Amino acid sequence: MTDVIDTPTISPISTSRHGDVLIVTSNNPPVNALGAAVRRGLVAAIEEAEGDDSVKAVVIRCEGQTFFAGADITEFGKPPVMPWLPTVVDTIENCSKPVVAAIHGTALGGGLEVALGCHYRVAVRDARLGVPEVKLGLLPGAGGTQRLPRVAGVQKALEMCTSGAMVSAKDACAVGLIDRLVDGELVQHAVAYAEEVKNIRPLPRSSERDEKLAEARANPAIFDEFRKANARKFRGFEAPEANIKAIEAAVAKPYAEGVIDERNLFMGLMSGTQSRAQQYFFFAERKAAKIDNIPDDTKPRPVKKVGVIGAGTMGGGISMNFLSAGIPVTIFEMNQEALDRGTGVMRKNYEATASKGRMTGEQVERAMGLLTPTLDFADLADCDLIIEAVFEQMDVKKDIFTRLDEVMKPGAILASNTSYLNIDEIAAITSRPEDVVGLHFFSPANIMKLLEVVRGARTAPDVLITAMQLAKKIRKVAVVAGVCHGFIGNRMLMPRQIEATKLLLEGATPEQVDRVHVEFGMPMGPFQMADLAGVDIGWHRDPSRIENVRDALCAIDRWGQKKGAGFYDYDDKRRPSPSPVVQQIIEDFAAKQGVTRRQIDDEEIVERTLYTMVNEGAKILEEGMAQRASDIDVVWVYGYGWPVYRGGPMFWADSQGLPKIVEGLKRQEQRMGSDFSFSRLLLDKAEKGEKFTR
Ligand code: 3HC
Repeated sequence: MTDVIDTPTISPISTSRHGDVLIVTSNNPPVNALGAAVRRGLVAAIEEAEGDDSVKAVVIRCEGQTFFAGADITEFGKPPVMPWLPTVVDTIENCSKPVVAAIHGTALGGGLEVALGCHYRVAVRDARLGVPEVKLGLLPGAGGTQRLPRVAGVQKALEMCTSGAMVSAKDACAVGLIDRLVDGELVQHAVAYAEEVKNIRPLPRSSERDEKLAEARANPAIFDEFRKANARKFRGFEAPEANIKAIEAAVAKPYAEGVIDERNLFMGLMSGTQSRAQQYFFFAERKAAKIDNIPDDTKPRPVKKVGVIGAGTMGGGISMNFLSAGIPVTIFEMNQEALDRGTGVMRKNYEATASKGRMTGEQVERAMGLLTPTLDFADLADCDLIIEAVFEQMDVKKDIFTRLDEVMKPGAILASNTSYLNIDEIAAITSRPEDVVGLHFFSPANIMKLLEVVRGARTAPDVLITAMQLAKKIRKVAVVAGVCHGFIGNRMLMPRQIEATKLLLEGATPEQVDRVHVEFGMPMGPFQMADLAGVDIGWHRDPSRIENVRDALCAIDRWGQKKGAGFYDYDDKRRPSPSPVVQQIIEDFAAKQGVTRRQIDDEEIVERTLYTMVNEGAKILEEGMAQRASDIDVVWVYGYGWPVYRGGPMFWADSQGLPKIVEGLKRQEQRMGSDFSFSRLLLDKAEKGEKFTR
C-alpha cells in the first residue's frame, strides 16, 4: 500500500491517503483512549475529508494493541474539554462520505460508540466489542444507548449495556454490529471495503435506523421482564437501571429525544457516589499489579509447567486455572482413590461449564489432556512452579517443602496456598528461601478472581514478578501481601467474626447480623458465610469440649449447609430458616457467661463488624503488610464480594469520613473490650483530616 499524502503532526491522529480513501489513524498508547487531543484530531480528519473532493471514503483505524478502548477515564471529574465525545460521534455519522471503522483488539465504550457513528464496521476475527461503562457505574454516554439497540437489537443492547461484557467479533457480526469479518491485513481489507461502498447512498446512519426497535415497541414489557430476570445481579447497583432506562427511551422516543434522556441519566450517574467508587476501583485494580521496591529490569522466570500438591477442592480448582490457560499441570496425591476423586471432580466441573455453553467439548478435552495425575513425588521435579495445597498444618507443610527442596530443579518456584501460616517459617526449612512465595487462592479457586501473593522476607524479586504476571495469564487479580496471620483478607475477617459472634450473645440474631451485611451490599453475612464454608473449619473435633457457640453447634453436628444445619436450618433445597435450637444455644451461653441480652440496633452491628474491619485494614497498612490502601480494597471486592459500588472497605471509610469511623469505634470500645485496639494510623489520619485512598 502506498501513502500518497501524509500530514505529520503532533496530534495522536494522523491522516494518509490510499487512492481516494482517507485513512485516519489514531496513535495514542497504551489503549487509544479518546482523550481531548484524539477527539479534536478525529473532528479535524472528518473536516479534511469533507473539504477534499478527491476523498470518496474514510477509514478510521488505530495503531498499537487496540482500537479505541473508550473515553479517557483520567479526564473524568475534570472540567470538560471540547469537543465532547457525543459531538465527535455525531460529526463522524454526519459526514457526507462513507466512514468505515477498522477494528482490532477491543472496541470498548466510547470506542464502540465511535464505531457506531461510522457507517460501516470491519473487524478482524479476534477483535472484541463491548460497552463496559456499567462497570464504572456509568452508561455509554456518547449516543451508545441509542445507537446500539438500533444496530444490534434491543435485547442484545440490554445485555451488553447492563453486563459490560465483551462480545466476540463473530457474535457481533451475527447481530449486525460488524458488517464484515476479515483475516489478515485489516487496513487493506477496510480500504477495499470503503472502495466497495463509496458510491452507495443514502449512507446507513445508526441513529436513523428503526427496524430493530419494532419488536420492543410492540412489546415494551420486555424491559420489566429483563429487570426481573436480572434483579439479583443488579441488586444495589444504580447503573444497570439507568442503562435500561436509556434503552427504553431509545425505543419509546425519537432519537433526538432519546439522546437527551441518555445525557441526563449519564450526568446523574457521573455525579453519584457509586460511579466515583467504581472509577476508583478501576485504577485500584490496575495499581495492585505494581510492586514497590523491585528493580524495573526484573525479568520473570519462565513457567511452562506447573505442579500441584493435593487434589482436593483447592488443589483441583487451582489446577483448573492453569489448564484453562493452556499450561500443563502435574497433580500429586498420596493415594489413587484421592487422585481419581480429585481429577473426576475437575472433569465434572469442566463438563458443567460446557453444558452451560461456556466451553466446547473439545476445549474440555484439551484442558484435561494437559493434566498429568501422579502418585510419584519425583514426577514434580521438572515443574517450573509448584503449588502446595494440603492441610493447614505447619508440620505437614514443612515436610512437603523439605521433600520439594530435595527433588525440584534449581530455579523452580515453590509456592504454598496457605491462608494463614507463616511463609517465612516454611521457606526457612528449605535451602532456597528466595524461591518460596505464598500463592493464596480463594475458594472456589477456579472461579474467584483474587490471588494474594505473599511476599516472604527473602522472596526474590523475579519470583514475585513471575507470580504477578502468571496471575494475569490465568485471569486472576493479584495483590501483594506481607507475612502476617491471615494476610490481608482473612486477617480482616477475624475482628468481624469475633464481634459478630459476641453480638449474638448480647442480643442480636444471626438473621439480623446477616441482614445488615446483605443490605450493605455483601453477598452474604458472617453466619451465612460460616454455614457455607463449614462451621467445623478449625474446630478442635472434641464434642465434649464446649467453650463457645460454635463448639456447641459442631458438637451436635450443625456443621453448616453440608449437614443441612448450622447457624440456620436448611430444607432439602438449601433454603435457610431461623433455628430455634440455635437461638436456645445462644441464650444458654449468654446466661452462662452472665451476658445481659438487650436490643441491638443495626448501627451497632455496622460499627462493630465493619468499622472494626477498617481499623484492622489500617493496622495492615501501618505494618506495611499491604502496599497501599487500594490493594486492601481489591482484596475485599474480589475475594469476599464487598460491593464494588462502595469501592472497598478503605475507600468506603474515606467516603464516610474517618472521624465518623473513629467516633463509632469509640462508642463501641468498651463493649468490644480487650478484643479491640485502635490503629494508630486510623487515629492519626482522622485527626489530620486525611484519607487512606486518593
Ligand atoms: N482511559 C484511560 N486509561 C485507560 C483506559 C481508559 N479508558 N483504559 C485503560 N487505561 C490505562 C490503564 O489504566 C493502564 O494504565 P497503567 O499502565 O498506567 O496502569 C493501561 O491503560 C493499560 O490498561 P490495562 O492494564 O487494563 O491493559 P490490558 O491490556 O489488560 O486491557 C483494556 C486493555 C481491555 C482496553 C482495558 O484497559 C480496559 O478494559 N479498559 C477500560 C475500558 C473502558 O472501561 N472503557 C469505557 C470508558 S468510559 C466511556 O467510554 C464513556 C463514554 O461512553 C462516554
